[in-house]
Amino acid sequence: MSDFYQAWLDQSKKNNETVNEGPRVARGKDLKWTRTRQDYKAALMIAPETGFPTGGSLLMKAEIPAGWHTGKHIHGEEAIYIEKGEGFMLLDDQRYDFHKGTVLHIPHRSPHQLVNTGKDSVVYIAGLAWPLESFIKMGPMEQVEDAGENNPSVIAKAPREESQNWPTDGRRISMHLEQHEKSDESKHGATYFLMGRSGKQNGFKATAVAISSIFVDLAHTKSHSHAHPEAYLYALEGSGYSEIGGKRYDWVQGDAVHVPPGMMHHQHFNPYDTDMKELRFEFGVRYWMVDQWRGYVTVDKHMKATTHMID
Ligand SMILES: [Fe+2]
Ligand SMILES: [Fe+2]
Repeated sequence: MSDFYQAWLDQSKKNNETVNEGPRVARGKDLKWTRTRQDYKAALMIAPETGFPTGGSLLMKAEIPAGWHTGKHIHGEEAIYIEKGEGFMLLDDQRYDFHKGTVLHIPHRSPHQLVNTGKDSVVYIAGLAWPLESFIKMGPMEQVEDAGENNPSVIAKAPREESQNWPTDGRRISMHLEQHEKSDESKHGATYFLMGRSGKQNGFKATAVAISSIFVDLAHTKSHSHAHPEAYLYALEGSGYSEIGGKRYDWVQGDAVHVPPGMMHHQHFNPYDTDMKELRFEFGVRYWMVDQWRGYVTVDKHMKATTHMID
């Protein structure tokens, strides 16, 4: 006899299988680019639509050609990393300049738009919690204006940047590459804390989605082995591999690694001669789980950073 309760038990089993068998690496070379109302060119990396068992989050890559801007839209929180190019973001009609390496925090329901003012394309990586917001029937998404070509007279009239902080409550909106500070406290070769909940937050106040840090894993080293709820790593520089749930996943620059929801043990390895650098995204729902998980600890097998590969 099937009843609603049996359906829950079946669903639980299915959730487990989906997480255990899901893909772990979104390959930069296999991206499926699409034109959307918001972006001239966008591709989902880690997302429910690309088959990843996410906990209501997603990672997207997008390109703004020279002389173009994105659409203007309103939705939940977003975290953006500028991989390439220069320009500015209009957020609540305030201007925030960006260039390669800038991280941007978009507060919940702030209208925003990115404008490319350079000679080359702007490429950006964005994290959102849209699938979760949609599931709980919150965080509506509204399109105010579509992507298009810049009008030079409109660009000339754009306001100047007044601050890197948000006038509403003083939180930080942008942080440039040259403002990233190396931390002494690291379980990797080096860590630059950006806007996450653990480590220095630099004035950011991210709730739903954060670009928490940049990790540097030195040549011929491995990170600590540990377990925690969902996180993403985007490979900024170098190549390496990750062991997740006992399986090996190789990746190269431009790929994104999915540490799935659940408490799957994982560890990152750099067996090569060049350092690797990863951008880490984490989502607020993780802390909703961690705070109620009895006896939760980030389980560490090897606490020592930069353990030599042959250890
Ligand atoms: Fe957005
Ligand atoms: Fe981790």
